[in-house]
Amino acid sequence: MTLSLRRFVLLTVAALVLMAAIILFSSGGENGDGPIADHNLTNSELLVRGEYLVVAGNCASCHTTAVGEYMAGGLAFETDFGTIYSTNITPDPETGIGNWTDWDFLNSMRHGIRPNGEHLYPAFPYPAFTKVSNEDLAAIFAYLKSIPAVQLTPPENELGFPYNQRSLMAFWKLLYFDSGEFETNSEQSAEWNRGAYLVEALTHCSACHTPRNGLGAEQEHLFLSGGAYLDRVKSGEHRTWIAPNLTSSARGLGLWTQENVEDYLKTARNEFLESFGPMNEVIMNSSRFLSAEDVKAMATYLKSIPAINEADGVTPDAQIMGNGRTIYNLHCGTCHLPTGEGDPEMAPKLNSGSLVVQAANPASMLNAILYGPEIPGAPLEPRWLDSMEEFQFLLSDAEIAAVASYIRNSWDNSAGLVTPEQVAAQR
Ligand code: HEC
Ligand code: HEC
Ligand code: HEC
Repeated sequence: MTLSLRRFVLLTVAALVLMAAIILFSSGGENGDGPIADHNLTNSELLVRGEYLVVAGNCASCHTTAVGEYMAGGLAFETDFGTIYSTNITPDPETGIGNWTDWDFLNSMRHGIRPNGEHLYPAFPYPAFTKVSNEDLAAIFAYLKSIPAVQLTPPENELGFPYNQRSLMAFWKLLYFDSGEFETNSEQSAEWNRGAYLVEALTHCSACHTPRNGLGAEQEHLFLSGGAYLDRVKSGEHRTWIAPNLTSSARGLGLWTQENVEDYLKTARNEFLESFGPMNEVIMNSSRFLSAEDVKAMATYLKSIPAINEADGVTPDAQIMGNGRTIYNLHCGTCHLPTGEGDPEMAPKLNSGSLVVQAANPASMLNAILYGPEIPGAPLEPRWLDSMEEFQFLLSDAEIAAVASYIRNSWDNSAGLVTPEQVAAQR
């Protein structure tokens, strides 16, 4: 880098820090927020409600490690900017949130601001939690204060410059973050509004299912039309996953009935398939514990989202389709059947209704083929007689690309070509 360029970068960073500082000191949480403990429940009712909401928000999946204490934090999140660790949200006064006031909690959930004024990173899904109502925040906070305190300081974040400068988040927020409670849409039913509230606020589906821009912000005009991020595959390593399109597109939830959506969120299964990969935690730790009315409301809202269609893929040529068919009939058709129809005891349908198969980006489908689809397991009764193997050891990049292209462009599917390079990127 030349000196003048370096000076330019430094000046720009200095200007951003200055702007950030101005915004930081001018944006407290008190602007228009009401008191958060405004409810008329008995204490035990409040705790029961708080626990239900904490399950809906799936706080434990991110704030509890596999070997750690409940809500003590320390789980690592791999992002494009480095590693971020979740914090301790037990009531320990030194390392947790034991000394926090109602205002401190409201400021973090609604505005992404810590008691000391520092900005939080959106790996903590406060861009969704900002919409949680004051009453629900009060119940969540009351519940968190009632759980055992654990003294534990999570590891320091490992972020490169300038992403390790929390003050720059003020600038990011100015561009990409709107705080404020969920607003009821008076033209829609109470059920629809309840579903919209749960999906947009607490259950934060958009944190994974909405595409983000280069600075990690969700793109609002593409809400729930499919996102990509890093998460664990069955072998334990991190790879790109795509969380598919949940709008009414024929390649999204368009082919699922309201009942299919409810069954999936309530039981991890429906007539098409069983959940696998990152959705297991969402369903097994969170959505399956929601009341039947709440799940119905979520499905009602999801089914009402207008279609956002993904770009058409490239149609594979006859040779790739022919190779793909041969590999499919040899390695996959025994369980998924040559018609792609699936079998109630052996394997899910691949001929229609799989959002993962239909997605423009094949990453999640390739993860299933390369590493085997990790299904929820206990406490669910097994659904399939046998598990699908990890084809990473059996098939080359070109072979997996051919069979994936064949599945994505046969029967009712038309999702486009998969290249060997795309397979290599998932290995
Ligand atoms: C997708 C993962 C994820 C989920 C779900 C999640 N959190 Fe977090 N949370 C994080 C991460 C990561 C941080 C640290 C962010 C940072 O360092 O800026 C965090 C930070 C926080 C903080 C700020 C703590 C501090 O020390 O400043 C609070 C409070 C919090 N979370 C509460 C909750 C609650 C309550 C829920 C459930 C309703 C929840 N979180 C769900 C990942 C998550
Ligand atoms: C932690 C990230 C994450 C969150 C949060 C999340 N999803 Fe997903 N979702 C994924 C990924 C990744 C996939 C694709 C692979 C899989 O099925 O796990 C997926 C797949 C799906 C599918 C398609 C299943 C298939 O196999 O075709 C549906 C439907 C779905 N999610 C609904 C939801 C809803 C509704 C919510 C909110 C309640 C939600 N998801 C929250 C990551 C997430
Ligand atoms: C032993 C039976 C078996 C064989 C052989 C098999 N699968 Fe599977 N497949 C399954 C089972 C079981 C699942 C997990 C249930 C689920 O994900 O819905 C699954 C899931 C999948 C999924 C995820 C579907 C979704 O949306 O949930 C894809 C994609 C897939 N298989 C592709 C293949 C391909 C490609 C081959 C051949 C290279 C293959 N399978 C071979 C049994 C099999």
